[in-house]
Amino acid sequence: MTVPYVPTPRDVALEMLRLANVRPGEVVVDPGAGECGIVTLAVTVFDAVGIGIEINPALVKACIENFERLGLRGRAYVVWGDLFDFDYSIADVVTLYLGSDVNEALKPKLSRELRRGARVVSHDFEVPGWRAVKSVTVNGPLRTHRIYLYII
Ligand SMILES: C[S@@+](CC[C@H](N)C(=O)[O-])C[C@H]1O[C@@H](n2cnc3c(N)ncnc32)[C@H](O)[C@@H]1O
Repeated sequence: MTVPYVPTPRDVALEMLRLANVRPGEVVVDPGAGECGIVTLAVTVFDAVGIGIEINPALVKACIENFERLGLRGRAYVVWGDLFDFDYSIADVVTLYLGSDVNEALKPKLSRELRRGARVVSHDFEVPGWRAVKSVTVNGPLRTHRIYLYII
């Protein structure tokens, strides 16, 4: 299961965070964070605490540079590692843009670790076997995107 780096467009990311109803101080976790675009928006626009998990060290470095540039120290974090090793019990909201196979593999861990009421929003790929409470279509700069909202 390899997932290449393809960033979620800004407007789609904003809609994901809106759909998840992110509130100030909540913890938003993005497994497979890329350059931490979603994490950065969660912190700067929604006043959340953001945590990205990223396996590619060059992208981890880009996250840190973005956080420094925007002065987000203490509010935005990135973990260099495998998203399957992270403990998601800290998360209020988890954002996914990973693919159906990875969503499927991650599902038991999320079910086990997330608290009741935590929200999962997935870009383009459903979490197989979960029923979305809402799904919306968003026009991106190049194509149409689909977002699925799940509540644990
Ligand atoms: C499609 S990109 C999504 C980036 C970001 N979440 C967004 O939506 O803008 C997927 C990212 O997951 C990372 N990734 C793939 N497998 C991973 C793993 N096992 N652990 C952590 N990160 C991983 C890739 O390096 C890539 O940056």
